[in-house]
Amino acid sequence: RCEELGTSRMADSDTYLRQPWRTVHGIPMVSAFALNWEQVDSFQARPEDIVVVTFPKSGTTWVSEIVDMVLKGGDPEKCKQDDIVNRVPMMEFAAPGKMAAGTEQLEAMPSPRIIKTHIPAHILPKSFWENHCKMIYVGRNAKDVAVSYYHFDLMNKFHPHPGTWAQYLEEFMAGRVAYGSWYDHVKDYWERRKDHPILYLFYEDLKEDLRREIAKVAQFLGQKLSEAALDTITRHTSFEAMRDNPATNYSKVPSDLMDHGVSPFMRKGTTGDWKNHFTVAQNERFDQDYAQKMSDTDLCFRTQL
Ligand code: A3P
Repeated sequence: RCEELGTSRMADSDTYLRQPWRTVHGIPMVSAFALNWEQVDSFQARPEDIVVVTFPKSGTTWVSEIVDMVLKGGDPEKCKQDDIVNRVPMMEFAAPGKMAAGTEQLEAMPSPRIIKTHIPAHILPKSFWENHCKMIYVGRNAKDVAVSYYHFDLMNKFHPHPGTWAQYLEEFMAGRVAYGSWYDHVKDYWERRKDHPILYLFYEDLKEDLRREIAKVAQFLGQKLSEAALDTITRHTSFEAMRDNPATNYSKVPSDLMDHGVSPFMRKGTTGDWKNHFTVAQNERFDQDYAQKMSDTDLCFRTQL
């Protein structure tokens, strides 16, 4: 099916597009990123680094923009001067011959750097833990993540084609998607917050009261913001503002890498879109499997929104 949809053709013309996952310590990864793993593994964190870490499609871009706005005192003009991928580089990103790797971009940046990553806690470069770097984790309910990830895999040529929704949901539940098991990812960072400075946020809370969550971020980062600055950041990071902002909506990424015609990066920005995708049978199966995989944690997601 994947061949039918162009997988092997893309792979011929551009070696890192539509490639099967390549594992790193058993975790499926974008092939080009996995090949660059040595650079990532030996990455030197600095104590003043701020890490935005998530399982993909959980609100990474949203919180990255919030953190950058907070550090810039709520000045939207400063944030619009460059694209989010340059202001908050993704550490494990690699596209040989096309763009600088995330590690290279970061090494050239002055402190304090804001670093984006999706790497699971147990294989995150050690220097982040040793340097006690502040981390902001964003969790989002698994069903909406699966739906968002499916649409992302359809448009993002760095990933293999996801096949049908039914096929994809099975892959997601089995952890055969980039960065592996959603369940392990959310649980591991949740546990580690007990002895590491991790602010654990939820997409659903951001949707509920964005201003309140931005204030939490500012407090965690030790930044004093005026009420006016808080208002500005809240406006600037609404879904509509970020969807229409070329510095945050990924519209400048060439369409041979990300095809916004298939699905825009800023797709819906809502909670509960899973209800438009899951069949009753899929939902029952997912709930059963979820209960089992999440039975060993007190971490709770609001799945019924
Ligand atoms: P949907 O596909 O459900 O629309 P990430 O940045 O981790 O890849 O996450 C992308 C998801 O976050 C997408 O979800 C995107 O629309 C949503 N998103 C990005 N900015 C947002 C914002 N300001 N408000 C609400 N959702 C946002």
